[in-house]
Amino acid sequence: MSQNPQAKYRKDYQSPSHTITQIDLTFDLHDKNTVVTAISKVKQLKESTTLDLDGEQLKLLSVKVDGKEWDKFEEAEGKLSISELPEEFELQIETEINPEDNTALEGLYKSGGAYCTQCEAEGFRRITYYLDRPDVLAVFSSTVIADKSEYPFLLSNGNRVDEGDLDNGRHFVKWQDPHPKPAYLFALVAGDFDVLKDKYVTKSGREVALEIFVDKGNLNRANHAMVSLINSMKWDEERFGLEYDLDIYMIVAVDFFNMGAMENKGLNVFNSKFVLANEETATDTDYLGIEAVIGHEYFHNWTGNRVTCRDWFQLSLKEGLTVFRDQEFSSDLGSRAVNRINNVRIIRGPQFAEDASPMSHPIRPDKVIEMNNFYTLTVYEKGSEVIRMMHTLLGEENFQKGMKLYFERHDGTAATCDDFVAAMQDASGIDLTLFKRWYSQSGTPTLKVVGEYNESDKTFALKVEQATPPTQEQVEKLPLHIPLDIELYAADGTIIELQCNGEKVGNVLDIKEENKTYIFVNVSEKPVVSLLREFSAPVKLEYDYSDQELMFLMVHAQNDFARWDASQILLAKYIKLNVSNLQSGKPFEFSDDVQDAFRGVLLNDKLEPAFVAEVLSLPGANEVAGWFKPVDVDAIDSVLHNIKQAIAQSLADELAASYAVLAQKDYSINHDAIGKRALRNRCLSYLACLEHGNELVHAQYKTANNMTDTMAAMSSANQAKLACRGELMEDFSAKWEKDGLVMDKWFALQGTSPVDNALDLVRETMAHPTFSLKNPNRTRSLIGSFLNNNPVNFHAKDGSGYLFAGEILKELNDSNPQVASRLIDPLLKFKNYDEQRQVLMKAELEKLASMENLAKDLYEKVTKALES
Ligand code: TRP
Ligand code: ZN
Repeated sequence: MSQNPQAKYRKDYQSPSHTITQIDLTFDLHDKNTVVTAISKVKQLKESTTLDLDGEQLKLLSVKVDGKEWDKFEEAEGKLSISELPEEFELQIETEINPEDNTALEGLYKSGGAYCTQCEAEGFRRITYYLDRPDVLAVFSSTVIADKSEYPFLLSNGNRVDEGDLDNGRHFVKWQDPHPKPAYLFALVAGDFDVLKDKYVTKSGREVALEIFVDKGNLNRANHAMVSLINSMKWDEERFGLEYDLDIYMIVAVDFFNMGAMENKGLNVFNSKFVLANEETATDTDYLGIEAVIGHEYFHNWTGNRVTCRDWFQLSLKEGLTVFRDQEFSSDLGSRAVNRINNVRIIRGPQFAEDASPMSHPIRPDKVIEMNNFYTLTVYEKGSEVIRMMHTLLGEENFQKGMKLYFERHDGTAATCDDFVAAMQDASGIDLTLFKRWYSQSGTPTLKVVGEYNESDKTFALKVEQATPPTQEQVEKLPLHIPLDIELYAADGTIIELQCNGEKVGNVLDIKEENKTYIFVNVSEKPVVSLLREFSAPVKLEYDYSDQELMFLMVHAQNDFARWDASQILLAKYIKLNVSNLQSGKPFEFSDDVQDAFRGVLLNDKLEPAFVAEVLSLPGANEVAGWFKPVDVDAIDSVLHNIKQAIAQSLADELAASYAVLAQKDYSINHDAIGKRALRNRCLSYLACLEHGNELVHAQYKTANNMTDTMAAMSSANQAKLACRGELMEDFSAKWEKDGLVMDKWFALQGTSPVDNALDLVRETMAHPTFSLKNPNRTRSLIGSFLNNNPVNFHAKDGSGYLFAGEILKELNDSNPQVASRLIDPLLKFKNYDEQRQVLMKAELEKLASMENLAKDLYEKVTKALES
């Protein structure tokens, strides 16, 4: 690095000097030298005759202004400055780019045999010199030229307006997108595909053509994506009153993709993982993931595309809101409780961990070196929690009024997070001034709650204290506006009405100060309190629950989420107790009553099976790691294992009975069938630890008629280190070795193998013909799962796991920095571990820091971590 990369600050935002109202692009596609011609209508907005355009890795061929060759320009690192310009002009720029050698998968690149683009966040500048910022909105047209037999489909945003044949076997298609958009929403795809076609009639009666493009031979894996798309379009009309606005909606599935999917206007590009599925190749989790991601990208059409972001610091404006919308979509179509549980697991696990790491940032960051580093759990998932809190404070009706006002004010423009909150506040009349701190403050608040019953007054006092510990980039913390949803129960399970000063109050308490005491009156007996119902705020709750109270809530709480949460708090108590027992040489302790409480849930046939499966799943090792400093990975692993073993033994008969009863003859993919499979396979994971586990798992593998049951058998064999593991793994890879997407499941099992020599296994697996570090999905499955989900081996005391991570990161720094930058996260958290591990982890970061060509992505994270 000749010069250290420079940070940009949110406070420095300046509106652009010029705008571009129209751009006509022509792509003459060739693997190593594609020529891009961009003709733009440019208009001065501020007194300035110089135009600075963004551009990276471009070969500039020519510049013309109003049709004349222009030599008044200067090319510098990352930009082109054109000077002595008139107020309004037509700018023509020709550049040459190399899609074939583009392994970073940003800008125009080749995925398998097809050309595709990824422009968010700042990839368009790898296509041509441009005002590559989201507050410059232009009407785009694109003409795509390529060989006709190799690339019969030439796609871009909007409507097809022209096509024809050219010399040398080439052809062209021209597309016109009527909606002005920022460059990050531009897309181009050229290739040969199978196409699944359908149509959708909007509520106002317009017909929309729906087309899903997949690799040849994959048509039988595109159905679920199409169903999900149609469901999304319908849901957005019904719940948000929002209709689609073009005559065509296209989705292309590609194998090489850095993220999940991209919402380019009218032409979504998807990681094939989130499109392709059939019962043989995909698990229920894959099906639900497809539904969520198809929904997410579709919902962006309004929250992201029609109203976009003023600058990238505002990313959560579109992402937090769109995640909230996709979560609601999945919850309305499936089980609300199970969706909430899974979303909360992400917040309490990896998001809390991120918020406590050197990369901690507010949902609206203040300082960015590489924007790609801020597509985070904080911006997306915590961002969605912030929207959800507003929904809780306003209620559905006022929230929808706020959405309506937001679109009235900002449709067709680039907006800010403040604009969104202002619309919510103005439409509802609810003061959100203090609430806005959630946008600027990072870190996870702790809510300490103490309850005190006064027998003689019949009052119940609830003392609430909030505090947010300092984070690396922000030391001073202020109190936040925290909606705290509570319920009080009498011993017979009935609800005690909440009354303050003799008046009935709602369930959601508005915590705004550091300390606050609520006195509830007319409380006839000592209540059991259910706190933070529905996880009404992304905070850590501290309340001294007894086992009895938690077991009571597991039975009597009025909503599923609260019952699940009680079960998790109960498990957490025993996990913490046993980690400390183990560290001080004391024996393992687990209460029979608690085991009976779990038995009660399993035997309660009034509960949804999918929900029971969630109650019976232990918190993951990463979430547990967040409760300790320093983290003792070996103790945590051993305690989680012992608790699982204890539940398996004590519930053995009931687990076996449920396993038998829940068997389904035929495979179908609906929420009821998915729930039954989830619970049955949860039972299997316990039964695998018992005496006949090997036979049972082996038999399930042999008789499975769908991928969910196949994978459940394989992962049980993997986790319980069963004798049949090797045989199952071999059988699976013999069957699927040519199919990268299916093999990703196998790679993930290799990565998470609990055997002692797991690292050797991972290194061997890298030589598998289907593995490639150039493919992000393969890399994440094998390497990502080793780094993130194999704590005992990754954190091996000899540092071998860290050394391995360092080697991989060095290689990916050159080929795909964006993927490298996601993989590095576990290393950044070295402060959480013991002295010896800290030294070894830091050594790898220092090696990276001293690299000459360290990409911005890694530079930003490594320097922050080393400053900590
Ligand atoms: N906007 C995309 C989404 O959330 C995210 C995305 C897809 C992305 N590809 C990317 C972000 C590449 C940065 C870089 O749906
Ligand atoms: Zn998104």
